[in-house]
Amino acid sequence: HRSDLLKGKRVLITAGPTQEALDPVRYLTNHSSGKMGYSLAQAALDMGAEVTLISGPVQLTAPKGVRFYPVTTAKEMFDAVCAHCDTADFIIKAAAVGDYRPLYVSEQKIKKGGERLHVEFVKNPDILAYLGEHKRPHQIICGFAMETQNLLENAQAKLENKHCDMIVANDLHTEGAGFQSDTNIATILDRSSRTPCPKMSKYALGVTILKHMLALRTQGEQ
Ligand code: PMT
Repeated sequence: HRSDLLKGKRVLITAGPTQEALDPVRYLTNHSSGKMGYSLAQAALDMGAEVTLISGPVQLTAPKGVRFYPVTTAKEMFDAVCAHCDTADFIIKAAAVGDYRPLYVSEQKIKKGGERLHVEFVKNPDILAYLGEHKRPHQIICGFAMETQNLLENAQAKLENKHCDMIVANDLHTEGAGFQSDTNIATILDRSSRTPCPKMSKYALGVTILKHMLALRTQGEQ
């Protein structure tokens, strides 16, 4: 899908999971493969954008031509996003960020002991909410919502609470959607519309998302 639709635009994309260490050999993470975020990055490149990709640990190779910043933890992703968000026209948060991290990271491997192990967690920064609060004029911010129930209601709440322009809602329990697969099935929510996107490749969904952002930006300029 080659075009000049995003020529001169800077697009910042986050992808993949975050990892939070428990001790030197163990960590907490999630099932994100990075495919959605990397497909978006490729789509934005093909549409002529300057693309910055900030990614948690995944098995994929960054598309040729992106500025690539690998990170591990949610805090590192937050810092990398803060360092690059000011100049971005479009920001898309496809990453699956860990909401909590262990309060203490044990310096030594945690030894097997009693029947139960208690770990205390603290909240990670909410990167999307931060971006929404510090939005620049003309910036269009798109979050994702990964839900297991009440998809559209929960996505609508995220759109409002995190002050973003768009949310792409996908459901973990829908076949061919969400984590790992090459396809996704989603609904794009913005302040005035809901657009269902049937099953398509993550690349095709990436193009659709970017076109939607461009339309919002154009509306905002009129
Ligand atoms: O990587 P794949 O295997 O291709 O899978 C794609 C995907 C399922 C990971 C992707 O399509 C997706 O839904 N990503 C968002 C997953 C998620 O963390 O959703 P959430 O509903 O928990 O978070 C909502 C939004 O807030 C997301 O844009 C997330 O990036 C952001 N967030 C969440 C927590 C946090 N501390 N900071 C954030 O910025």
